[in-house]
Amino acid sequence: MTLAGKVAVVTGASAGIGTEIARGLARLGATVAVVGRNIERTHDVRVRINDAGGKADAFFVDFARLSDVRHLGAELVDRYPVIDILVNNAGVAVGRRTVSADHYETTFAVNHLAPFLLTHLLRDRLLASPQGRIVTVSSGAHFRGRVDFDDLHRERGGYSSWEAYAQSKLTNVLFTRALATQLAGSSVTATCCHPGMVGTDIWQIGPWVSLVAPLAKMFMLSPAKGADTPLWLASAADLGGTSGGYYERRTLVTPSAAAQDDQAAARLWDVSARLCHLPAHL
Ligand SMILES: NC(=O)c1ccc[n+]([C@@H]2O[C@H](COP(=O)([O-])OP(=O)(O)OC[C@H]3O[C@@H](n4cnc5c(N)ncnc54)[C@H](OP(=O)(O)O)[C@@H]3O)[C@@H](O)[C@H]2O)c1
Repeated sequence: MTLAGKVAVVTGASAGIGTEIARGLARLGATVAVVGRNIERTHDVRVRINDAGGKADAFFVDFARLSDVRHLGAELVDRYPVIDILVNNAGVAVGRRTVSADHYETTFAVNHLAPFLLTHLLRDRLLASPQGRIVTVSSGAHFRGRVDFDDLHRERGGYSSWEAYAQSKLTNVLFTRALATQLAGSSVTATCCHPGMVGTDIWQIGPWVSLVAPLAKMFMLSPAKGADTPLWLASAADLGGTSGGYYERRTLVTPSAAAQDDQAAARLWDVSARLCHLPAHL
């Protein structure tokens, strides 16, 4: 499989699983837009890819600021006439309730609203590809998730990092489902996946977790192994024509019942469009 001549955008490419997805796509020949928040780490990944003979450009964004996402979208549209692959990988888990620059709960803003908006901004570039792919890195945590439409920003009751994270990962699956419906009949497919339990720095959500994380990491997958399924979804020649599916270990898996709720997916779409100040349909 070669991706020579193709352009891939990978968010959260400055660390963990995203770095390995970016490196993997570059090894296959794609020009990779390495998108990160931390300037030094993002540059470092770009340099490592270029030093290894690949082609990479670096872009910086804070997904907790929708104006930043808009700026990134404009930069990418300016740079690339066609975008073949978008991997929505960036994600966070936060230890206590915080809000984004737009006053939205941070986990929901970074893990869902930012990729929702970025995907919209890159839509025409992806549609210009003969075989566009949008891959969103969700999680098995979505099985524990519930979308609370009455309290999306988790203002009421006690805040639980796990519930906020699980909700955001469920929204990734619902988003993919609705996106696939909207893109039906086009050249672009949308899929999402669980990368496995991967030993990265995402697991720093409080003193206890941070304390046991180094030990737990020893039993988790390496970032390179975690990158396997998203990389495969982004690059495999034939996914059997499927769109809208949730994958684990390169296999189509039935997601939770909540993730198969088309009404919830449509409602989430409308709410997200409103929160991002977008029209309801892509
Ligand atoms: N690790 C696991 O076991 C696991 C399991 C299931 C799903 N996932 C999912 O896999 C994806 C990647 O996670 P990871 O484990 O590789 O975590 P990670 O090592 O912590 O990497 C997270 C990436 O997201 C970026 N990011 C975080 N907040 C951002 C913001 N506000 N704006 C822009 N970029 C931001 C980080 O950028 P900077 O480094 O530049 O700040 C980094 O590149 C996430 O969506 C996560 O939910 C992970």
